[in-house]
Amino acid sequence: MKYALNIKKNNKNSLCILLNGKKYEVNSQWLYEHSHNTEIRDPYTKQLLIEAAEISPSLKIIDAKIKNETLAITFSDKSKHKYKINYICSQIEKVSVSDDKFLWNKKNIKIPKYNFKNINDKVLFDIMSSVEKVGFCLVRNIPKKKNGLNELMKLIGPVKKTNWGGIADVKNINKAYDLTMTTRGLENHTDNPYRFPTQGYIFLHCIENANNGGENTITDGFNIANILRKKHKKYFDTLTSFNTFFRYADKNAYLENKCKLIELDDENNICQIRYNNRTEVMPYESHKRLNEYIKARRKFWDLIKDSKNNIQIKQMSGDMLILDNYRVLHGRKSYKDQENKRYFRQGYMDRDIFQSKLKTASSS
Ligand SMILES: [Fe+2]
Repeated sequence: MKYALNIKKNNKNSLCILLNGKKYEVNSQWLYEHSHNTEIRDPYTKQLLIEAAEISPSLKIIDAKIKNETLAITFSDKSKHKYKINYICSQIEKVSVSDDKFLWNKKNIKIPKYNFKNINDKVLFDIMSSVEKVGFCLVRNIPKKKNGLNELMKLIGPVKKTNWGGIADVKNINKAYDLTMTTRGLENHTDNPYRFPTQGYIFLHCIENANNGGENTITDGFNIANILRKKHKKYFDTLTSFNTFFRYADKNAYLENKCKLIELDDENNICQIRYNNRTEVMPYESHKRLNEYIKARRKFWDLIKDSKNNIQIKQMSGDMLILDNYRVLHGRKSYKDQENKRYFRQGYMDRDIFQSKLKTASSS
């Protein structure tokens, strides 16, 4: 990393930093708010102690120097502040969130597999990193008991409760309130887009599988969205701008969400995909706009179901799949199970809980 700096001569309201050949003008109040001086930030919580909105608008930089990788600044209120130059540079040059993702298809993916018998801090971090990188992983030897999946989940954070409770059965039942509770095959989908926020991660534990069928299918939705972006830009633009609608309704719940099939963040990175044929309720729009959406969605679906983009995993007793519900789509082949012994358990986790554990685990 190469850097240099000079104070802008005209008003001293900003500092010019030359970083890797690019010039950045850094606002003086921004620097003041980022100070770790103990009268500005609490040393333990790192939270602001001053009212940032009340910092004097005439705040100026009087002096700035870099020595021993430290930026020392004196402001017009006579306060002196020291910053690690690496910290300032990391804030200026944001790392793209999609940099650590590996986009995959059937050909280039190697299924990440772990053994729960070997669990320790390092293995837990590797499990979570795999989910972050490719959107899923398989963990073997989770205890084959009713709430066995919690042995791993509790190491990450609390289970998300929904109107169906916490950890729930996935089993063929009479009067199923969701098609997961039947022997029917399930087309690739993301779970519960009718919830806001939609649950971030799925933990799917096999206690016993059917002898015939019941394989899980998984597709990388970020890779599909990226194919659309590169090869079918018109469809990509439609799916990132058209607000569709999802709904789940039963006697006790009425859940709705207006959202897009491909969601972009403020830097135009793909940050979430959704697809759930069972619960989409297409909203009324003009004839032209609906035709655009229908065509784009069909292309999206064709790529989702394309065998080149799908992998199949038949979970054995004790196997758990962890799925990033904002990224990968999952489905299930139909199954035959005369004794009705196929028994899975499923738990959800909020996105921020998982991400928080990943960040604290990586810094420890
Ligand atoms: Fe599902």
